[in-house]
Amino acid sequence: MLHTRIIVAKNPEEVGKLAADVFEDVLNRKPAGVIGLATGSTPLPLYRELIKREQEGKIDFSKVRSANLDEYKGLAPDHPQSYRKFMQDNLLDHISIKPENTIVPLGLAEDVQAMCEAYEAQIEEWGGVDLQLLGIGHDGHIGFNEPDTYFPGMTHEVQLTEMTIDANKRFFDSIDDVPRAAFTMGIGTIMAAKKIVMVVTGSDKKEILRKTFWGPVDPQVPASILQFHPDVVLICDEAAYPL
Ligand code: F6R
Repeated sequence: MLHTRIIVAKNPEEVGKLAADVFEDVLNRKPAGVIGLATGSTPLPLYRELIKREQEGKIDFSKVRSANLDEYKGLAPDHPQSYRKFMQDNLLDHISIKPENTIVPLGLAEDVQAMCEAYEAQIEEWGGVDLQLLGIGHDGHIGFNEPDTYFPGMTHEVQLTEMTIDANKRFFDSIDDVPRAAFTMGIGTIMAAKKIVMVVTGSDKKEILRKTFWGPVDPQVPASILQFHPDVVLICDEAAYPL
């Protein structure tokens, strides 16, 4: 809890608006800023708000660069369940960001090592991530960094846990269709972001949120490493707030 700023919002919509304030602030100061993006249900109110704010002239994405946290291994960018497709549908197609300024790990990469290294190199060439958005899994994962005996460093391939496969099956026709592996920014990649905003909603996230920010820093709760990041803003709703 060393450097974490905590904002408790009434509901998921308000979490989205407060997180959008952070994006607006960072991007108005740095119009060509680099934002790290996440998929999942929790960021959806934020993405709706960002689209609205650009339409209202409050944010301009035309010079912004974006890098996503993760992607399923084996899914093509246009696969209906790919994270690239999710980002296009829920944000990128509706704002002025240039397609060439958006990156998502390539699900179909043949040379995994080379793809992961190129991903890190692109972020570095852009000058690093200015603002990284995170959600959190029920097991404390961020990106697809699952509980482990160590904190993984850079972008890499992971095998998904049964808990994550089960949580993500809601987006697929059947649990057998959920990929068993993914590519994700590492904990090191995430921790290198200059600023991090984490959004968390719903009472089912309360216990993991307590462990993350009020428990020991432990790779079995990957998100707990955020206690050591110098600039984290946690925005949660009342249902998720553990105290
Ligand atoms: C998504 C990601 C995941 C999610 C997490 C929470 O790109 O990296 O770590 O943030 O699984 O997902 P939701 O928001 O659907 O509960």
